Amino acid sequence: MGFKYILSIETSCDDTSVAIIDGEGFVQSVCMANQDIVHAPFGGIVPELASRNHTQFILPLIEKALEKSHVTWESIQGIAVTNRPGLIGSLMVGLIAGKTLALSKNLPLVGINHIEGHIVAPLLKDSTYAPPKDFAFPYLALIVSGGHTQLVVVKTFGNYEIIGRTRDDASGEAFDKFAKLVGLGYPGGVLVDQLASKGQRDKFSFPRGMFHEKNLDFSFSGLKAAAQRLLTQFEQPLNLSLKQDLCASYQEAIVDVLIKKIDSAVTLTGINKIAITGGVSANSRLREQALVLAQTKGLQVIYPPLRFCTDNAAMIGLAGLWRLNRGERSSLSLGVFSRSLPEDFTEAPLCQN
Ligand code: KG4
Ligand code: ZN
Repeated sequence: MGFKYILSIETSCDDTSVAIIDGEGFVQSVCMANQDIVHAPFGGIVPELASRNHTQFILPLIEKALEKSHVTWESIQGIAVTNRPGLIGSLMVGLIAGKTLALSKNLPLVGINHIEGHIVAPLLKDSTYAPPKDFAFPYLALIVSGGHTQLVVVKTFGNYEIIGRTRDDASGEAFDKFAKLVGLGYPGGVLVDQLASKGQRDKFSFPRGMFHEKNLDFSFSGLKAAAQRLLTQFEQPLNLSLKQDLCASYQEAIVDVLIKKIDSAVTLTGINKIAITGGVSANSRLREQALVLAQTKGLQVIYPPLRFCTDNAAMIGLAGLWRLNRGERSSLSLGVFSRSLPEDFTEAPLCQN
């Protein structure tokens, strides 16, 4: 018999999230607490503050998610919780909550890899979103967020091959660090995106890291260094039109690389279904250019809606549901890990230099 409802918890970074999904992967409720204002004064996430805030948010969010979905504990049949990769203190808060619920309610527990959550997010359903009917395994997933930049062949659920990853900064990190340099707020990706829409994309020439290399890896640290050097030429505070041009040019360098690597991944694998997910997939220029690529190359490119792109517990719930359905169970001695486990992904020898 399938699961009626499962409750899922995500606390791997700075967002606290709890979701209830049904046995069809249909989202009943997702409740979130965002900590941006806590970390903004520091221009980045302070791990200790993140875990402290998770401890305050987690129990009220569990109650709120149940209330919002009108699902009672009697109908919850499993618990899914992110236990890797992420900030150890943050993961601990979610895991302890998950274990306590599993133990006290006598429910099966399953620990989920956060990146697997991003990978399956485009397959979630709710009252206003469903993936296109013809979108199915295998597909390519480009995961672009504050902590990750990876290209993954999603062969089927649970069978993932990493074919490209960042060698240094994540793409979201590249946006956030640039936003800090230019004097915008945190997190900066969305602000860079907004300013870029009014700027000139070819005003400044930023390096495209690893653009011409045959492999599918990414590098964004040279871009940040180039921005740092360029900014020494200008008097602070920068005027608005200069900021707009800088943002447009910088954003174009990131988007160019992401699009080029998707294109190369399609050529290498022959897979023409692509899901772009993670916070950076909200970027309007990335979406625009991905659409152009899709049209020129006859690809199917999908994005989950923003609420499922950024960190959220619904995606953890879907991965959890499918793992529980397969009979997987985690014991109450389940731990947390800052990195993925070796069994989570295989790595392609596909595209070495
Ligand atoms: O997936 P996410 O919410 O959290 C992580 O797992 O990191 O992604 C957050 C990242 C941040 O770096 C943020 O600046 C970036 O996504 N981001 C954007 C945009 N919206 C969010 N980057 C570029 N353009 C955007 N519109
Ligand atoms: Zn994430």
